[in-house]
Amino acid sequence: MASKKSSTHQSLAILLFFLLTLSSAHAKGGIAVYWGQNNGDGTLTATCDTGNYEIVLLAFLYTFGCGRTPDWNFAGHCGPWSPCDKLEPEIKHCQQKGVKVFLSLGGAVGPYSLCSPEDARNVSDYLYNNFLSGQRGPLGSVSLDGIDFDIEGGTNLYWDNLARELDTRRQRGRYFYLSAAPQCFFTDYYLDTAIRTWLFDYIFVQFYNNPPCQYNINTGDTSQLIASWNQWTSYVKLNNTVFMGLPAAPDAAPSGGYIPPTDLCSRVLPIIKLTPNYGGVMLWDRFRDVNSGFSNQIKDCVKVNGDVDGVSQM
Ligand SMILES: *[C@@H]1O[C@H](CO)[C@@H](O)[C@H](O)[C@H]1NC(C)=O
Ligand SMILES: *[C@@H]1O[C@H](CO)[C@@H](O)[C@H](O)[C@H]1NC(C)=O
Repeated sequence: MASKKSSTHQSLAILLFFLLTLSSAHAKGGIAVYWGQNNGDGTLTATCDTGNYEIVLLAFLYTFGCGRTPDWNFAGHCGPWSPCDKLEPEIKHCQQKGVKVFLSLGGAVGPYSLCSPEDARNVSDYLYNNFLSGQRGPLGSVSLDGIDFDIEGGTNLYWDNLARELDTRRQRGRYFYLSAAPQCFFTDYYLDTAIRTWLFDYIFVQFYNNPPCQYNINTGDTSQLIASWNQWTSYVKLNNTVFMGLPAAPDAAPSGGYIPPTDLCSRVLPIIKLTPNYGGVMLWDRFRDVNSGFSNQIKDCVKVNGDVDGVSQM
Protein backbone atom coordinates (compact mmCIF):
# COMPACT_ATOMS: atom_id res chain seq x y z
CA MET A 1 0.00 0.00 0.00
CA ALA A 2 1.29 3.46 -0.82
CA SER A 3 2.28 5.59 2.13
CA LYS A 4 1.18 9.20 2.25
CA LYS A 5 4.72 10.32 1.49
CA SER A 6 5.13 8.26 -1.64
CA SER A 7 1.76 9.31 -2.96
CA THR A 8 2.87 12.93 -2.51
CA HIS A 9 5.99 12.04 -4.49
CA GLN A 10 3.82 10.42 -7.05
CA SER A 11 1.65 13.51 -7.50
CA LEU A 12 4.75 15.70 -7.65
CA ALA A 13 6.13 13.43 -10.34
CA ILE A 14 2.87 13.62 -12.24
CA LEU A 15 2.83 17.41 -11.90
CA LEU A 16 6.42 17.60 -13.12
CA PHE A 17 5.55 15.35 -16.02
CA PHE A 18 2.70 17.64 -17.04
CA LEU A 19 4.86 20.73 -16.71
CA LEU A 20 7.56 19.17 -18.88
CA THR A 21 4.99 18.02 -21.42
CA LEU A 22 3.53 21.51 -21.46
CA SER A 23 6.86 23.20 -21.93
CA SER A 24 7.98 20.85 -24.69
CA ALA A 25 4.61 21.24 -26.42
CA HIS A 26 5.46 24.91 -26.27
CA ALA A 27 8.79 24.44 -28.05
CA LYS A 28 8.31 25.86 -31.50
CA GLY A 29 10.17 26.94 -34.54
CA GLY A 30 10.65 24.52 -37.38
CA ILE A 31 11.54 24.36 -41.05
CA ALA A 32 9.16 23.58 -43.91
CA VAL A 33 10.55 22.69 -47.33
CA TYR A 34 9.14 22.25 -50.82
CA TRP A 35 10.15 19.00 -52.49
CA GLY A 36 9.41 17.76 -55.98
CA GLN A 37 10.45 20.23 -58.64
CA ASN A 38 13.99 18.94 -59.27
CA ASN A 39 15.68 15.53 -59.27
CA GLY A 40 18.44 17.10 -57.20
CA ASP A 41 15.95 17.10 -54.29
CA GLY A 42 17.07 13.55 -53.61
CA THR A 43 14.54 11.09 -52.27
CA LEU A 44 11.79 11.92 -49.83
CA THR A 45 13.27 9.37 -47.44
CA ALA A 46 16.65 11.10 -47.48
CA THR A 47 14.93 14.47 -47.08
CA CYS A 48 13.10 13.36 -43.95
CA ASP A 49 16.13 11.48 -42.60
CA THR A 50 18.04 14.76 -42.32
CA GLY A 51 15.88 15.50 -39.27
CA ASN A 52 15.91 19.15 -40.37
CA TYR A 53 12.28 19.51 -41.37
CA GLU A 54 8.98 19.71 -39.59
CA ILE A 55 6.94 19.80 -42.81
CA VAL A 56 7.67 18.58 -46.35
CA LEU A 57 5.43 20.01 -49.09
CA LEU A 58 5.03 17.85 -52.20
CA ALA A 59 5.07 20.21 -55.20
CA PHE A 60 2.78 20.28 -57.16
CA LEU A 61 -0.71 19.23 -58.13
CA TYR A 62 -0.69 21.74 -60.98
CA THR A 63 -3.76 20.86 -63.07
CA PHE A 64 -7.23 20.81 -61.49
CA GLY A 65 -10.56 22.60 -61.31
CA CYS A 66 -13.13 23.77 -63.88
CA GLY A 67 -13.69 20.19 -64.97
CA ARG A 68 -10.01 19.52 -65.80
CA THR A 69 -8.66 16.04 -65.20
CA PRO A 70 -6.26 16.56 -62.28
CA ASP A 71 -2.56 16.11 -63.01
CA TRP A 72 0.58 16.40 -60.92
CA ASN A 73 4.18 17.24 -61.65
CA PHE A 74 7.05 16.00 -59.52
CA ALA A 75 9.75 16.69 -62.12
CA GLY A 76 11.88 13.59 -62.77
CA HIS A 77 10.91 11.91 -59.51
CA CYS A 78 7.91 10.14 -60.97
CA GLY A 79 5.29 10.45 -63.69
CA PRO A 80 3.69 8.36 -66.39
CA TRP A 81 7.00 6.48 -66.90
CA SER A 82 7.30 5.64 -63.20
CA PRO A 83 4.03 6.04 -61.32
CA CYS A 84 4.07 8.28 -58.28
CA ASP A 85 2.48 5.66 -56.03
CA LYS A 86 6.05 4.44 -55.55
CA LEU A 87 6.27 7.37 -53.10
CA GLU A 88 3.83 5.69 -50.71
CA PRO A 89 6.47 3.96 -48.52
CA GLU A 90 8.60 7.10 -48.46
CA ILE A 91 5.67 9.26 -47.40
CA LYS A 92 4.87 6.78 -44.64
CA HIS A 93 8.52 6.72 -43.59
CA CYS A 94 8.48 10.52 -43.21
CA GLN A 95 5.25 10.43 -41.22
CA GLN A 96 6.65 7.73 -38.92
CA LYS A 97 9.60 10.02 -38.22
CA GLY A 98 7.18 12.77 -37.22
CA VAL A 99 7.60 14.81 -40.40
CA LYS A 100 4.30 16.16 -41.70
CA VAL A 101 3.76 15.66 -45.42
CA PHE A 102 1.47 18.04 -47.34
CA LEU A 103 0.36 18.12 -50.96
CA SER A 104 0.87 21.55 -52.49
CA LEU A 105 -1.66 22.83 -55.01
CA GLY A 106 -0.74 25.24 -57.77
CA GLY A 107 2.75 26.64 -58.19
CA ALA A 108 4.04 29.04 -60.81
CA VAL A 109 2.76 27.00 -63.77
CA GLY A 110 -0.85 25.88 -64.32
CA PRO A 111 -3.48 25.27 -65.64
CA TYR A 112 -5.53 25.45 -62.47
CA SER A 113 -8.48 27.51 -61.29
CA LEU A 114 -11.90 27.02 -59.74
CA CYS A 115 -15.08 27.87 -61.64
CA SER A 116 -17.84 27.81 -59.02
CA PRO A 117 -18.61 26.88 -55.42
CA GLU A 118 -19.75 23.48 -56.74
CA ASP A 119 -16.43 23.06 -58.53
CA ALA A 120 -14.60 23.87 -55.27
CA ARG A 121 -16.63 21.13 -53.58
CA ASN A 122 -15.69 18.67 -56.31
CA VAL A 123 -12.00 19.51 -56.02
CA SER A 124 -12.26 19.13 -52.25
CA ASP A 125 -13.83 15.68 -52.72
CA TYR A 126 -11.08 14.74 -55.17
CA LEU A 127 -8.35 15.85 -52.75
CA TYR A 128 -9.96 14.08 -49.83
CA ASN A 129 -10.54 10.80 -51.64
CA ASN A 130 -7.14 10.66 -53.33
CA PHE A 131 -4.70 12.10 -50.81
CA LEU A 132 -6.25 12.35 -47.36
CA SER A 133 -8.51 9.36 -46.84
CA GLY A 134 -6.02 6.50 -47.01
CA GLN A 135 -7.79 5.14 -50.08
CA ARG A 136 -5.68 4.41 -53.14
CA GLY A 137 -4.71 7.55 -55.09
CA PRO A 138 -1.88 8.84 -57.29
CA LEU A 139 0.56 8.68 -54.34
CA GLY A 140 -0.59 5.27 -53.19
CA SER A 141 -2.73 4.60 -50.14
CA VAL A 142 -1.70 7.59 -48.08
CA SER A 143 -3.31 9.91 -45.57
CA LEU A 144 -1.33 13.07 -46.06
CA ASP A 145 -1.10 15.54 -43.18
CA GLY A 146 -2.28 18.55 -45.09
CA ILE A 147 -3.09 20.51 -48.22
CA ASP A 148 -1.13 23.63 -49.21
CA PHE A 149 -2.52 26.42 -51.40
CA ASP A 150 0.35 27.85 -53.48
CA ILE A 151 -1.93 29.75 -55.84
CA GLU A 152 0.00 32.07 -58.14
CA GLY A 153 -2.11 32.02 -61.29
CA GLY A 154 -5.53 31.38 -62.77
CA THR A 155 -8.17 33.47 -61.03
CA ASN A 156 -8.63 34.60 -57.44
CA LEU A 157 -12.10 33.07 -57.16
CA TYR A 158 -13.45 30.34 -54.88
CA TRP A 159 -10.25 29.52 -52.97
CA ASP A 160 -12.15 30.46 -49.82
CA ASN A 161 -14.82 27.93 -50.82
CA LEU A 162 -12.16 25.25 -51.23
CA ALA A 163 -10.71 26.04 -47.80
CA ARG A 164 -14.18 25.85 -46.21
CA GLU A 165 -15.03 22.58 -47.98
CA LEU A 166 -11.79 21.00 -46.77
CA ASP A 167 -12.39 22.35 -43.27
CA THR A 168 -15.84 20.75 -43.22
CA ARG A 169 -14.16 17.45 -44.10
CA ARG A 170 -11.59 17.66 -41.33
CA GLN A 171 -14.18 18.69 -38.76
CA ARG A 172 -16.16 15.55 -39.55
CA GLY A 173 -13.26 13.11 -39.37
CA ARG A 174 -9.48 12.98 -39.00
CA TYR A 175 -7.99 16.44 -38.65
CA PHE A 176 -5.57 17.49 -41.40
CA TYR A 177 -3.81 20.80 -41.83
CA LEU A 178 -4.43 23.58 -44.30
CA SER A 179 -1.66 25.93 -45.37
CA ALA A 180 -1.26 28.82 -47.77
CA ALA A 181 1.82 30.28 -49.43
CA PRO A 182 1.00 33.90 -50.35
CA GLN A 183 3.47 36.42 -51.78
CA CYS A 184 4.63 38.93 -49.16
CA PHE A 185 3.25 41.79 -51.26
CA PHE A 186 0.20 42.73 -49.21
CA THR A 187 -2.57 41.72 -49.60
CA ASP A 188 -2.12 38.63 -51.73
CA TYR A 189 -4.18 38.89 -54.91
CA TYR A 190 -5.00 35.19 -55.23
CA LEU A 191 -5.24 34.07 -51.65
CA ASP A 192 -6.50 36.96 -49.55
CA THR A 193 -10.14 35.89 -49.48
CA ALA A 194 -9.11 32.38 -48.50
CA ILE A 195 -6.70 33.67 -45.85
CA ARG A 196 -9.55 35.66 -44.32
CA THR A 197 -11.40 32.43 -43.57
CA TRP A 198 -8.64 32.10 -40.90
CA LEU A 199 -8.72 28.35 -41.56
CA PHE A 200 -5.04 28.00 -42.48
CA ASP A 201 -3.00 26.42 -39.69
CA TYR A 202 0.19 27.55 -41.45
CA ILE A 203 0.93 30.53 -43.65
CA PHE A 204 4.20 30.29 -45.57
CA VAL A 205 4.66 33.89 -46.71
CA GLN A 206 7.04 34.13 -49.68
CA PHE A 207 9.51 36.88 -48.78
CA TYR A 208 11.33 36.45 -52.10
CA ASN A 209 10.91 37.55 -55.71
CA ASN A 210 9.05 40.49 -54.16
CA PRO A 211 11.52 43.42 -53.82
CA PRO A 212 9.17 45.76 -51.86
CA CYS A 213 8.86 43.34 -48.93
CA GLN A 214 12.04 41.29 -48.86
CA TYR A 215 15.59 41.49 -47.50
CA ASN A 216 17.88 43.78 -49.45
CA ILE A 217 21.12 41.88 -49.92
CA ASN A 218 22.95 44.90 -51.37
CA THR A 219 22.43 47.14 -48.36
CA GLY A 220 21.76 44.48 -45.71
CA ASP A 221 18.58 46.40 -44.90
CA THR A 222 16.03 44.30 -43.02
CA SER A 223 13.44 47.06 -42.49
CA GLN A 224 11.10 46.24 -45.41
CA LEU A 225 11.26 42.55 -44.55
CA ILE A 226 10.48 43.08 -40.87
CA ALA A 227 7.75 45.62 -41.61
CA SER A 228 6.10 43.14 -43.95
CA TRP A 229 6.49 40.31 -41.43
CA ASN A 230 4.77 42.45 -38.79
CA GLN A 231 1.98 43.33 -41.18
CA TRP A 232 1.34 39.68 -42.00
CA THR A 233 1.57 38.32 -38.49
CA SER A 234 -0.76 40.97 -37.08
CA TYR A 235 -3.23 40.56 -39.97
CA VAL A 236 -3.79 36.82 -39.47
CA LYS A 237 -5.07 35.23 -36.26
CA LEU A 238 -2.95 33.82 -33.46
CA ASN A 239 -3.85 30.29 -34.55
CA ASN A 240 -2.57 30.96 -38.10
CA THR A 241 1.11 30.18 -37.59
CA VAL A 242 3.35 32.18 -39.91
CA PHE A 243 6.59 30.92 -41.43
CA MET A 244 9.10 33.24 -43.11
CA GLY A 245 9.41 31.84 -46.64
CA LEU A 246 12.97 32.20 -47.98
CA PRO A 247 15.16 30.95 -50.84
CA ALA A 248 17.58 28.20 -49.78
CA ALA A 249 20.20 29.69 -52.12
CA PRO A 250 20.54 32.93 -54.12
CA ASP A 251 19.63 31.25 -57.42
CA ALA A 252 16.39 29.86 -55.95
CA ALA A 253 14.84 33.34 -56.33
CA PRO A 254 15.85 35.28 -59.47
CA SER A 255 14.29 38.50 -58.13
CA GLY A 256 16.01 38.25 -54.78
CA GLY A 257 15.19 37.77 -51.14
CA TYR A 258 18.09 35.48 -50.21
CA ILE A 259 19.41 36.07 -46.68
CA PRO A 260 22.80 34.59 -45.78
CA PRO A 261 22.35 32.18 -42.83
CA THR A 262 24.55 34.24 -40.50
CA ASP A 263 22.45 37.37 -41.12
CA LEU A 264 19.23 35.41 -40.76
CA CYS A 265 20.35 34.01 -37.41
CA SER A 266 21.79 37.24 -36.01
CA ARG A 267 19.60 39.99 -37.45
CA VAL A 268 16.22 38.55 -38.44
CA LEU A 269 15.26 35.49 -36.40
CA PRO A 270 15.91 37.09 -32.98
CA ILE A 271 13.30 39.71 -33.90
CA ILE A 272 10.63 37.60 -35.60
CA LYS A 273 10.80 34.84 -32.98
CA LEU A 274 9.21 37.26 -30.53
CA THR A 275 6.01 37.23 -32.59
CA PRO A 276 3.37 35.04 -30.90
CA ASN A 277 2.32 33.32 -34.13
CA TYR A 278 5.87 32.76 -35.40
CA GLY A 279 6.21 29.20 -36.69
CA GLY A 280 9.63 29.01 -38.33
CA VAL A 281 11.16 29.25 -41.77
CA MET A 282 9.87 27.84 -45.07
CA LEU A 283 12.50 27.07 -47.73
CA TRP A 284 12.24 27.02 -51.49
CA ASP A 285 13.37 24.42 -52.19
CA ARG A 286 14.87 21.08 -51.14
CA PHE A 287 17.14 20.92 -54.23
CA ARG A 288 18.82 24.23 -53.36
CA ASP A 289 19.00 23.22 -49.71
CA VAL A 290 20.83 19.98 -50.62
CA ASN A 291 23.55 22.02 -52.30
CA SER A 292 23.72 25.01 -49.95
CA GLY A 293 23.24 23.28 -46.60
CA PHE A 294 21.02 26.22 -45.61
CA SER A 295 18.76 24.24 -43.27
CA ASN A 296 21.79 22.69 -41.52
CA GLN A 297 23.06 26.18 -40.81
CA ILE A 298 19.81 27.65 -39.50
CA LYS A 299 18.06 24.73 -37.80
CA ASP A 300 19.23 25.62 -34.30
CA CYS A 301 18.49 29.31 -34.47
CA VAL A 302 15.01 28.74 -35.94
CA LYS A 303 13.90 27.15 -32.65
CA VAL A 304 12.31 29.40 -30.09
CA ASN A 305 12.36 27.37 -26.96
CA GLY A 306 16.06 27.45 -26.11
CA ASP A 307 15.48 25.87 -22.71
CA VAL A 308 14.83 22.47 -24.34
CA ASP A 309 18.55 21.93 -23.92
CA GLY A 310 18.96 24.31 -21.02
CA VAL A 311 20.36 27.18 -23.07
CA SER A 312 18.44 30.26 -24.05
CA GLN A 313 18.97 30.99 -27.69
CA MET A 314 17.57 34.49 -27.62
C1 LIG B 1 -19.06 17.92 -59.79
O1 LIG B 1 -19.08 16.50 -59.71
C2 LIG B 1 -20.31 15.95 -60.12
C3 LIG B 1 -20.25 14.46 -59.84
O2 LIG B 1 -19.08 13.89 -60.36
C4 LIG B 1 -20.55 16.27 -61.59
O3 LIG B 1 -21.79 15.76 -62.02
C5 LIG B 1 -20.55 17.80 -61.77
O4 LIG B 1 -20.67 18.12 -63.14
C6 LIG B 1 -19.28 18.38 -61.20
N1 LIG B 1 -19.36 19.82 -61.25
C7 LIG B 1 -18.38 20.60 -61.72
C8 LIG B 1 -18.64 22.07 -61.64
O5 LIG B 1 -17.35 20.16 -62.21
C1 LIG C 1 -8.60 30.13 -35.71
O1 LIG C 1 -9.51 30.82 -34.86
C2 LIG C 1 -10.64 31.34 -35.54
C3 LIG C 1 -11.41 32.15 -34.55
O2 LIG C 1 -10.66 33.30 -34.21
C4 LIG C 1 -11.46 30.19 -36.11
O3 LIG C 1 -12.56 30.69 -36.80
C5 LIG C 1 -10.56 29.40 -37.06
O4 LIG C 1 -11.26 28.25 -37.50
C6 LIG C 1 -9.29 28.95 -36.38
N1 LIG C 1 -8.37 28.41 -37.37
C7 LIG C 1 -7.69 27.29 -37.19
C8 LIG C 1 -6.73 26.91 -38.23
O5 LIG C 1 -7.82 26.60 -36.20
